[in-house]
Amino acid sequence: MVMELRKVLISDEVDEKCVDILHSNGISVTKNTKLSKSELLQIIPEYDGLIVRSATKVTAEVINAGKNLKIIGRAGTGVDNIDTEAATRNGVIVMNTPGGNTLSAAEHTCTLIIALTRNLGAASMSMKEGKWDRKAFMGSELYGKTLGIIGLGRIGKEVATRMQAFGMRTIGFDPIVKPEECAEWDTKWMSLDDLWPQADYITVHTPLIPQTKHLLNDTTFAKCKKGVRVVNCARGGIIDEAALLRALESGQCAGAGLDVFAEEPPKDYTLVKHPKVVATPHLGANTVEAQTRVAEDIAQQFVDLVQGKSLFGA
Ligand code: NAD
Ligand code: MLT
Repeated sequence: MVMELRKVLISDEVDEKCVDILHSNGISVTKNTKLSKSELLQIIPEYDGLIVRSATKVTAEVINAGKNLKIIGRAGTGVDNIDTEAATRNGVIVMNTPGGNTLSAAEHTCTLIIALTRNLGAASMSMKEGKWDRKAFMGSELYGKTLGIIGLGRIGKEVATRMQAFGMRTIGFDPIVKPEECAEWDTKWMSLDDLWPQADYITVHTPLIPQTKHLLNDTTFAKCKKGVRVVNCARGGIIDEAALLRALESGQCAGAGLDVFAEEPPKDYTLVKHPKVVATPHLGANTVEAQTRVAEDIAQQFVDLVQGKSLFGA
């Protein structure tokens, strides 16, 4: 398939490499990251390609207004900010760059697990307040503990192999990945009902879909070990935030590492401010390396399409 692309709009902070690659392949590019919703609706008909990260909400209204739109590229993994059904209805291709930020998201997940187990956030805050409080921050070792991984795809796998280096036993659930497959990277596949009571730590690495929304809720927290620690570096909403707060208050959950939230930025900071929570503002993919990779990947995928080379996407 060969696609003619005249003008591409980049409406989010995507690394300059993206602009360079498109330009050097003869594609005209405008980068404007300050557009309001109404400004985007006004100018989108001029473009046949759109590249976003996560700030731009590519709604049905935007897609319908994009009369010449042929392709939407997401410099990242999740395409939840793009109405893919509206795109399909309008014959617009949606591409993402799965894999470009896998290592960064996996490293960030490991960082949250480690930070949680040694109270890093709270201890650092306390020192910044001029205190020297060693008693308040007794930690626990990761060695010999069990990490439950829900979602054994790209990131889940990288988290498993990294945390094994700390001596953690890794178990996991994924409806698609076969037990033999994850046994190859020393992770024991099991049902969720078997996983809940065995895991000392649980990390989720699934998309947010109806089957994963509130996967951790009052009922499933109750099935977990008392003092389980949880991490969400995937999508806000996989863990029910109200249930998490209740589990933290009751001690059923001993700590949570959160990079993503049901609402971003959150309107209610109660969970973020909880002393047993380590929180980051959706930084999983925020590394120089990942942002360079996803920018290059999405630009190259556009160029390949123009040159009739390949189709790759969500
Ligand atoms: P992936 O597609 O490689 O893996 C996701 C896995 O989830 C798949 O293997 C799938 O079978 C599994 N899954 C689907 N439904 C499930 C269910 N009900 N129970 C258990 N597993 C289920 O995706 P990935 O690249 O590993 O990304 C995982 C998540 O991380 C996505 O939500 C992605 O958007 C998010 N992400 C976040 C950041 C960040 O900045 N925090 C960065 C990159 C990716
Ligand atoms: C993704 O889905 O790629 C991540 O959430 C990171 C990002 O939004 O850049």
